[in-house]
Amino acid sequence: MTQPKQTSGKVFFKFGVGFCLVVFLLVTVNMFVRSTEGRGINPWENFQESSGTSEEGLKIMQRYGCFLCHRIDDFGGEIGPKLNAVKDRKTRQELFAWIKSPKSIKPNTIMPEFHLSDDEILRIISYLETK
Ligand code: HEC
Repeated sequence: MTQPKQTSGKVFFKFGVGFCLVVFLLVTVNMFVRSTEGRGINPWENFQESSGTSEEGLKIMQRYGCFLCHRIDDFGGEIGPKLNAVKDRKTRQELFAWIKSPKSIKPNTIMPEFHLSDDEILRIISYLETK
């Protein structure tokens, strides 16, 4: 009962410190979660690029008939967008996700699901990045 003012001041002080701690914790956790986002789904992690990688990408594209719909330089169809400079329109991750499963990104696209292996997709992207 003595000096009630000081006691309530202490309570407020404790609340203040507690509040700051909670905010600090939330910010830290948030930063940690953001820094781990996308980890574990980086297909480039174990991918070895060499001088022949992009040529293999071209061969895979020829084998699967990508050029029926897509033009690169002066060769290919025009049903899909021309793939020159596609790297300026889409990030590597976006290209990967699209080629892996176009229909899970745009359900009504006419681009087929090719069920390519991660390795084949990475080679294709490596080729597209040279164009
Ligand atoms: C039947 C036609 C067809 C075939 C075959 C096809 N695509 Fe597509 N592709 C499309 C269409 C159409 C789009 C545009 C997306 C849309 O609007 O549906 C597209 C979009 C893309 C894009 C994104 C282009 C951009 O400008 O954002 C990439 C990359 C791509 N295709 C790669 C491929 C690869 C690699 C293959 C072969 C493995 C392939 N496509 C085979 C029709 C096709």
